[in-house]
Amino acid sequence: MKKFFPRKKKILLIGVIIFVILFCTCFSNLSINSYKYNKPVGHEESTEEFLKFPDGFLWGAATASYQVEGGNKYSSWWEFEQEKGRIKNGDRTDVCVDHYNLYEEDFDLLKEMELNSYRFSLEWGRIEPEKGVFDDTEIVHYKNVLQALKERNITPMVTLWHHSIPTWFAEEGGWENKDSIKYFSAYVQYVAENLGDDTELWLTMNEPTAYISSGYLMGKWPPGEADIKKVPVLQKNLVKAHKVAFEIIHKYDSDAEVGIAEYSSYVVSDSNKNVIENIVAYSIDKSWTHYFVSRVKDELDYIGVHYYYRQKIRLGLLGDLISKDAEDFEETGLDREYYPRGLYEVLMRFDKYDLPIYITEIGVQDYHEVSRDVFIKEHAKEVYYAIQNGVDVRGFHYWALLDSFEWSEGYDAKFGLIAVDLDTLERTIKDESWEYAEIAKCNCVSTGN
Ligand code: FCB
Repeated sequence: MKKFFPRKKKILLIGVIIFVILFCTCFSNLSINSYKYNKPVGHEESTEEFLKFPDGFLWGAATASYQVEGGNKYSSWWEFEQEKGRIKNGDRTDVCVDHYNLYEEDFDLLKEMELNSYRFSLEWGRIEPEKGVFDDTEIVHYKNVLQALKERNITPMVTLWHHSIPTWFAEEGGWENKDSIKYFSAYVQYVAENLGDDTELWLTMNEPTAYISSGYLMGKWPPGEADIKKVPVLQKNLVKAHKVAFEIIHKYDSDAEVGIAEYSSYVVSDSNKNVIENIVAYSIDKSWTHYFVSRVKDELDYIGVHYYYRQKIRLGLLGDLISKDAEDFEETGLDREYYPRGLYEVLMRFDKYDLPIYITEIGVQDYHEVSRDVFIKEHAKEVYYAIQNGVDVRGFHYWALLDSFEWSEGYDAKFGLIAVDLDTLERTIKDESWEYAEIAKCNCVSTGN
């Protein structure tokens, strides 16, 4: 015995056995948890004729400054869109849909559609075109925008940073730079000092995960890189930036409610029968979709949820472990599946933070398999069911108010409730948008056709 198992080997053997036991325990826990996570919560259908929403529910539409204003020449996207091959059809935003000048007309149309809320963003590069130099005329512009909303009794929701950063900031490495938090704080402080009295609902940032994946993993957005090594530092700095901004806004605006808007597709295992698929789906959702919210949950007054589609995870061929669903599905544009129930499931998942939720984006493109009226109605029903199941959902912001510049997709991807003729800038409310007006007016959704 002694000959075959000397002391060192015995220790090694015991080590291996302990490792195997620990590994099996962790693996079985993970597989049980991921199985539970991937199992849809589901709900019964109501037999009521009208599904009524809580009083004060916000029915709104959203935009982002760079996508609608035009002429944002001090922003990172400005340089980027001039590089050949970056934007579909070589589209540019010199004039864009000129929301910068036509916002009052746009708000009249928003009002005509009975909507009571508008989510928009401030263009950091306009407000601070050079490091430390703030342009008072631009902050006055945004003050006027907020005033125009107030006059129309429309509740604003203001995003401080929605994907485009000032050129000077990009040149200093953007969110990779450890000073980024200091720079962002100075900007937020200036904004809060000047606009703190004009809005209560704030979002510090839009979809930090999408920003990282599109700009630093897929290279589709500025800075156009594919460098996974940069992800941890970006995540770390963005978490800090949110926390600091949260404190600053509260200092200047005691009534403020500050949130973060996150890209929240319904990530789920294809069949919930394959352990690896379950674990992969569970891990992606926990460590990516919920990354930011889970880290800043103590510095959040609410969560901004963006729901566009279900992302099914399944095993593909070798080397293709996480394969996108290639089955038949009704598409809403940009290869996204129409799956309203996914919104309900996503809301149930976010309920664990015990915070109010606003849907800050949800939308469908023109010319796809689902019409906008059906899309909105079916998703609104799912919100109703989530509320019935105890989730504190307070608003629904359709993306987008206007057809606009859809980042690297240019003007082809039209999500708007309102069509814009890019030559004349003439605006027209699309026929399919009137269903949304009905919902907003009655603060309810009819279950009939
Ligand atoms: C979201 C972005 C928004 C727009 C829509 C279609 O992920 O926040 O700017 O691009 O998608």
